Amino acid sequence: MRKTKSIKMFLTAAILTTVVSCAEQAPIGDTAIIPQPYKMELTEGNYTINKTTTIGISDESLRPAAEFLQSTIKRAIGGDITIDTKGDIMLSLNTTIKNKEGYTLAVDANGVTIAGGGYGGVLYGIESLRQLFPKQAEIGGVIEAMSVSFVNIEDAPYYSWRGYMLDVSRHFYTPDEVKSFLDMMAYYKLNLFHWHLTDDQGWRIEIKQYPLLTENGAWRELNKHDRACQNLELSQDNSDYKLDSTKMKITGQDTLYGGYYTQDEIRDIVKYAKNLNIDVLPEIDMPGHFLSGVENYDNVACFNETGWGELFSSPICPGKESALEFSKNIYKEVFELFPFAYVHLGADEVDKTNWEKCADCQKRMRKNGLKNEKELQAWFVKYMERYFNENGRKLIGWDEIHEGGLSESATIMWWRNWAPHTIIEATKQGNNVISSPNSNLYFDMPQDKNSLKKVYNHDAAIKGMNDEQAALILGVQANLWAEYIPNIKRAEFMTYPRMLALSEAGWIDPAKRDWDNFVDKTVIHLQKLDVMGINYRPLDLEGFHNSNTFTAPTEFKVMTPQKDVKIFYTTDDSTPTTSSMEYTKPLLVEATTNFKFRTYRPDGSAAEIVKTSVIIEDHLPALDSSKLTLKDGLKASWYDYSGSKCEDIATAKLKKDFITTGLYIPKGVKGNIGLLFEGYFNAPKDDVYTFRLISDDGSMLYINDKVIVNNGGAHAQREKVGQKALAKGLHKLNAEYFDNNGGMLKLVVLSSDGTEVEGVYFN
Ligand code: ACM
Ligand code: ZN
Repeated sequence: MRKTKSIKMFLTAAILTTVVSCAEQAPIGDTAIIPQPYKMELTEGNYTINKTTTIGISDESLRPAAEFLQSTIKRAIGGDITIDTKGDIMLSLNTTIKNKEGYTLAVDANGVTIAGGGYGGVLYGIESLRQLFPKQAEIGGVIEAMSVSFVNIEDAPYYSWRGYMLDVSRHFYTPDEVKSFLDMMAYYKLNLFHWHLTDDQGWRIEIKQYPLLTENGAWRELNKHDRACQNLELSQDNSDYKLDSTKMKITGQDTLYGGYYTQDEIRDIVKYAKNLNIDVLPEIDMPGHFLSGVENYDNVACFNETGWGELFSSPICPGKESALEFSKNIYKEVFELFPFAYVHLGADEVDKTNWEKCADCQKRMRKNGLKNEKELQAWFVKYMERYFNENGRKLIGWDEIHEGGLSESATIMWWRNWAPHTIIEATKQGNNVISSPNSNLYFDMPQDKNSLKKVYNHDAAIKGMNDEQAALILGVQANLWAEYIPNIKRAEFMTYPRMLALSEAGWIDPAKRDWDNFVDKTVIHLQKLDVMGINYRPLDLEGFHNSNTFTAPTEFKVMTPQKDVKIFYTTDDSTPTTSSMEYTKPLLVEATTNFKFRTYRPDGSAAEIVKTSVIIEDHLPALDSSKLTLKDGLKASWYDYSGSKCEDIATAKLKKDFITTGLYIPKGVKGNIGLLFEGYFNAPKDDVYTFRLISDDGSMLYINDKVIVNNGGAHAQREKVGQKALAKGLHKLNAEYFDNNGGMLKLVVLSSDGTEVEGVYFN
């Protein structure tokens, strides 16, 4: 631990030394703007902002934006930076810019002019200007002036909804922590903060009429998620998983975790967000995920006894008038706090077994001609939607509101990527949707070398949608569920740099995105985050696979696009720390070695442990094929398997056998899928072959009964890559795969020159 601290101090000193030496010469910013502006033209020359620079506004409504710019410049260089009707940096509204979030930004020898189609456009012009500042501008007191390149920008967003959701129930974030996310959202031109305020693990919004919701419901004894975080903190030597002690209180014998927002704090955050062009979408999740409601007040649930069903908690009883009044009274206070046109009812993951047994629910169903409990859920959603509409609000719900009948006006927030019919049918019916699928845009999902790209390339228009349907997509949103995110540092680690990718996924036409350019800019932006003191996940180490094979001793090279991080590693299976060996140059590997690498940011915080093995071996001799009777393809057996372990598939019931030309899900195989493949791989030559195994959920690949790629366990689409040195000829191949929700399976085999090897399977 001591070592970590000293590295941190050393690096902080290094940053400051650089900064101070630049101070006199007005350091020039870079030009890496995220999201990439629609049009950006750089010209020769720089304009210097100094302590006497002034800001002008054409319209009093722009004052909050001007004050934001003023405080940004004052933080950077000090000075007065006055605001008047004319100034060196001129902010104005321009009605010829049709998009209210569109703007132009021009920097030349005379100064800076920013014109916006609305307040949001002006604010975004300011954020783009701020990104042109040198990184030292983000920390106070080290530079005296700063220069920005001459530039002409014309910009406007592709989507109007560019959202980020924070779950403050599973773990709580203070008002200041929430504001720090709002600051970064605005920096990356996200305009919608979805505040998941209530869930079974904590009620976080003060409701004056029902004080027990927070008095009891905002506090809990440590739960299984907290304990899992504590275990991860120890097992991974990672303080990112530390439970935030400022959110604990000791009452009598108990240590309770929690917190909530008073209505005054909420009003303050909503106002703060508005000045940053961010609307705040509150979610009070019901009829499920509502434990505080059903536990603390009578006649809200179906029965007195409440708690957990098989998967989810006891929901509201839509059969009882008292429960409906309770729900509406809560929202009445919510409407007063949140001016945004949309309000989110939640309505996901409802355990309906109580409804089947409840006389009130059954009566409601009979009275309204509802055929089943799904229709009762839809009835509740529509009932609440009418109340929302009477109060001038529009309803959003998770895509489960499609079940049992979707109203014509509700907006769907699509999250279940395994239920694409909900978004297809909703848009066919003319409903608006927001795209936030679990597969691509859930920021609580673990990160690996594909996760950033998945966000970047996310296309909200999915297969099966026509242009009219695609036009109903309001935009994109990322969600951060906080079960395993016990403090702000971890929340930042999971959010950045994925928020940067989300920024471009929301702002830029999918056809115009440029991944390589984005990565180059991200490297620069991560340095800005370092200066801002924001935690992030370093970019992936490159140059190797999950396992790597060589037929002779080799120089093993590990690369990172970030110059200012350090890489430490172990070869004895221990956890890498800053006391471990530091990677500074390619490593000579003479015998098979298992490595654990870990990247450390300049402030000493650590990324995940990356495991890889470097295998030194001869080509595996081919089988004697003279005694084999070979047929084309692999033998694939489909088992009725609904578990989540590849090794258990064979214990399930066999449904059907197939012959396949490779590794994929054979036609007609759906529902509970367990697939076992067996046969031979015919290596065309002596070579080191690379096996890229992509699956959702788990899969395993074996050659000659040895694991080549382990992509097992329940997970979203994920690629794992292994290598094997094979002599020309036949090799025994086996594979396993399972999935419960549609899934995918693909194997790509490459020879050492990078060409794909095809048509090589026999049985
Ligand atoms: C959700 O992830 N249950 C919306
Ligand atoms: Zn009921």
